[in-house]
Amino acid sequence: MNSIPANRRFWNRISSAYQHEHDPHIGAAPRLWGMYSIPDAHLHALGDVTGKRVLELGCGAGQWSRALAAEGATVVGLDLSEAQLAAAASAMGAARYPLVQGAAEQLPFAADSFDVVFCDFGGLSWAPPHLAVPQAARVLRPGGRLVFNVASPWFEACYDEAAARVTTTLQQDYFGLDTIAEDDGATSYQLTYGDWVRVLRGAGLVIDDLIEPRPERGTPNGYNETEPPDWAHRWPSELLWVTHKP
Ligand SMILES: C[S@@+](CC[C@H](N)C(=O)[O-])C[C@H]1O[C@@H](n2cnc3c(N)ncnc32)[C@H](O)[C@@H]1O
Repeated sequence: MNSIPANRRFWNRISSAYQHEHDPHIGAAPRLWGMYSIPDAHLHALGDVTGKRVLELGCGAGQWSRALAAEGATVVGLDLSEAQLAAAASAMGAARYPLVQGAAEQLPFAADSFDVVFCDFGGLSWAPPHLAVPQAARVLRPGGRLVFNVASPWFEACYDEAAARVTTTLQQDYFGLDTIAEDDGATSYQLTYGDWVRVLRGAGLVIDDLIEPRPERGTPNGYNETEPPDWAHRWPSELLWVTHKP
């Protein structure tokens, strides 16, 4: 399925409201992962990128990219939405980096172009992983790393659409979550644990770690209500994959 046109329209439409609501916590400090803004310094997922060629897949307003550029990485921020890219351009710091409009499932870069490809609820949540993961693997140099954070299947399976919150009851089938219908005909993607392993290994990547970020009790979720409020302290809400190309 081709979700590029609808996802682009969706993100163009919501970009301004999304940044108004979320930029204050996404950009509150450098390198914050996920819905609970957990610092990379606690999770040790991305590590040192000084001097590395880094691609952010679905960079949004570039909160991550501008932090890595300031640390001395050679960063490219890619996003599907021109509105999101405009937000990234206007929020760029002193360390400038290029922004590219494109789709994670059709990357416009030569093979072996990057040392690190990463995203935080970016292109690997919004493009079909069976297309986007091989693209990420293709543009990595041997030894390069693909690191990305997505929602966990637990979180999705317990999401109650009618109540608009994550619950302690299984609401949807785990098998066949695959595509999630978002507003305006947009689509996000979710795989089972087994399918993630097969897609990553099928693209020739080695899985180094699967970090399950665990917020402290009382850490707010900037995106979704959960019941109980400490849901993500008790069950895994996110999957932070750490892989490399051998
Ligand atoms: C939730 S944001 C992630 C950016 C940032 N980490 C954040 O949390 O705001 C998702 C981003 O993915 C982008 N996106 C959607 N579909 C995409 C695709 N197929 N390829 C690349 N980026 C895509 C959207 O435009 C949006 O900027």
